[in-house]
Amino acid sequence: MAICGKGGSGKSTVVALLAHGVRARGHRVLVVDSDESNPGLYRMLGFDKRPEPLLELVGGKKKVFPTFSGESEPREILLTREEIRVADLPGDYIVERDSIGLVCIGKILQSLEGCACPMGVLSREFLKRLRLQEDEVAIVDMEAGIEHFGRGVEASIDSVLIVTEPSFDSLELAEKINSLAAEVGVERVWTILNKIRSKEIASRLREELEERGISIIGSIGYEPEIFQSGLEGRPVRRDRVETDIGRILDQLL
Ligand SMILES: Nc1ncnc2c1ncn2[C@@H]1O[C@H](COP(=O)(O)OP(=O)(O)OP(=O)(O)O)[C@@H](O)[C@H]1O
Ligand SMILES: [Mg+2]
Repeated sequence: MAICGKGGSGKSTVVALLAHGVRARGHRVLVVDSDESNPGLYRMLGFDKRPEPLLELVGGKKKVFPTFSGESEPREILLTREEIRVADLPGDYIVERDSIGLVCIGKILQSLEGCACPMGVLSREFLKRLRLQEDEVAIVDMEAGIEHFGRGVEASIDSVLIVTEPSFDSLELAEKINSLAAEVGVERVWTILNKIRSKEIASRLREELEERGISIIGSIGYEPEIFQSGLEGRPVRRDRVETDIGRILDQLL
């Protein structure tokens, strides 16, 4: 499943909450960090180090396009395989604990290093090849906005979850993502309302989303403790939103 939405709407927070919720229901979870900018998903999930980026496995940005077009010798054959299983990932490139694994596609590290297209290509090709076992679920933390649709990252995604916070821009983007996901053939597209401070705000958002033909799978309250853990770079606090997450997972799984 891919978690999409406007910048700052709470995508990474929701990824962390869902990962723990899905694990608690007896699945193994692979979280794929597909955001080339923000570095902190590993902390939000409770890891003390981040995995080496998969981009390094293919020899860096310049190698990505030739690797997948077969024009030159790739440095590492893993990502040229037809199928990739979680167990195939070399140790440095995945961090794992309590049935949750995290892989990272790649991050922009230097000024003038060029655009993030290679990360998009790598995300798409990795997800296309990823073969999950019966009890495994992959959750992809997407970069903000919609560029990833242009790059075809969703081509092999089963479910798109759009995180919508109470703002007009967020609603408009949800509408756009909803139609882009349908265009690319994703069958299950929902939105999760996030940072909800009152019933009135929730019902206003629900009305707006229903008018736009977007299905709502659930909502997560605005929790000062979540905000605080984000401020301090600590793992996302889950205790107060477990019921909200439980309701979402009842439908999702
Ligand atoms: N339910 C919530 N209650 C309170 N604060 C929240 C909630 N969800 C997210 N936040 C806060 O909102 C901010 C943005 O969250 P997060 O980093 O998860 O968003 P994002 O969509 O991943 O952002 P980006 O687009 O930059 O990757 C953080 O400060 C986070 O702690
Ligand atoms: Mg994020």
